[in-house]
Amino acid sequence: MREEFWRRHKRKLYVTLGVCGSGYLLYKLYDARTRRLSDLQKQFADEKENEELIKAQIQAHFESVQRIADSTTLPHVMDLLDTRLAENLDLTHSTERLIQGKGQPNTLSTTEKLELWDRLKILSFTKMVSSLWSMTMLSLYIRVQVNILGRHLYIDTARGLGSSHLLDEAELIDKNDEQQFLACVDYLSNYGLVSLISDTEAVTSEVLTGKQLRDFFNVSVLHDTIVHILDTLMSMGSPNRWVGYLMPEDAGDYKISHATKFELLMRETRAVLSSAEFSNIVDISLRTVVSELLKDLSFHCGENNLSSGMPLAKLVPRIAQTSQLLLQESNRNRYIQIIRSIPEVELFFTLLYSSTPT
Ligand SMILES: *[C@@H]1O[C@H](CO)[C@@H](O)[C@H](O)[C@H]1NC(C)=O
Ligand SMILES: *[C@@H]1O[C@H](CO)[C@@H](O)[C@H](O)[C@H]1NC(C)=O
Repeated sequence: MREEFWRRHKRKLYVTLGVCGSGYLLYKLYDARTRRLSDLQKQFADEKENEELIKAQIQAHFESVQRIADSTTLPHVMDLLDTRLAENLDLTHSTERLIQGKGQPNTLSTTEKLELWDRLKILSFTKMVSSLWSMTMLSLYIRVQVNILGRHLYIDTARGLGSSHLLDEAELIDKNDEQQFLACVDYLSNYGLVSLISDTEAVTSEVLTGKQLRDFFNVSVLHDTIVHILDTLMSMGSPNRWVGYLMPEDAGDYKISHATKFELLMRETRAVLSSAEFSNIVDISLRTVVSELLKDLSFHCGENNLSSGMPLAKLVPRIAQTSQLLLQESNRNRYIQIIRSIPEVELFFTLLYSSTPT
């Protein structure tokens, strides 16, 4: 009877035992896994907390560099540019002589008067274009510097993560290198401006050849003239020759292996400025600033004067004053803000911060 039972239920029993057994095994496995998982999760959480802390440190440092650049560096850089432009392109002499000549009809011969006017015409455009170019470039250049610094900080910290101690902020990048690097933004005002002005003057005089003082200039003619000068200036000489207005020639190419941090930062900046992507945002930024400046200029010329067209002779004194329009504190902040919010410019800097250096 019993044997009969066993025989009948053997299969069922094995199956049941089997299920229970594997159930137990599964349970054991599950338990071990969850225990390991929670260990892992804890370990991961600790690492993550560490990483978050470091990320927050980097973010805070990056933001502080950005804030210093915006609040201190930028105004200082623009003021210096304004001063240097005024020193290097002083139009008062020509203007005063013309005014004197107007008051006393016989002090200037017709030829002298025409020469003075021609000079004033070229210098006024030169001053407008040099101011526009410098203001736009410096605002972009400072952001390139800040983003390169920020990225280096990130990379240095990520490397330091392996040694698993929180790095002191000061260890991350040498303060000296950082300051020396940021100070290079004044290269344009202190050294590059002289060549920028003389090149702009040469280009302007070529572009304005044949433009008479009685010719009528409306917004679109003026727009095309400025863009023509800018385009010629940017394509002058060897490719990216204009980078030379912004930073010194790279003399340390051969010593890549023991280059200082400062040299590495400078080399990277040069690579960014010489890239096709940067040229593209420079182009977009310059055009945007030209359009915005023309709106301001139209306003200063009086209602509808510039849209219907006015003689170049009447326009020249206004053109001479555009550098004030561009570099006056409240205005330049507006222009800088406009450049900053161009979508292509925003995208460029986001990518610059997150890409690895080449
Ligand atoms: C501006 O002037 C040019 C040349 O005088 C003319 O061809 C053009 O139609 C004018 N544009 C506007 C918007 O008035
Ligand atoms: C511009 O237009 C205003 C009127 O809105 C007029 O009074 C002024 O003389 C014009 N300026 C020039 C430079 O033509």
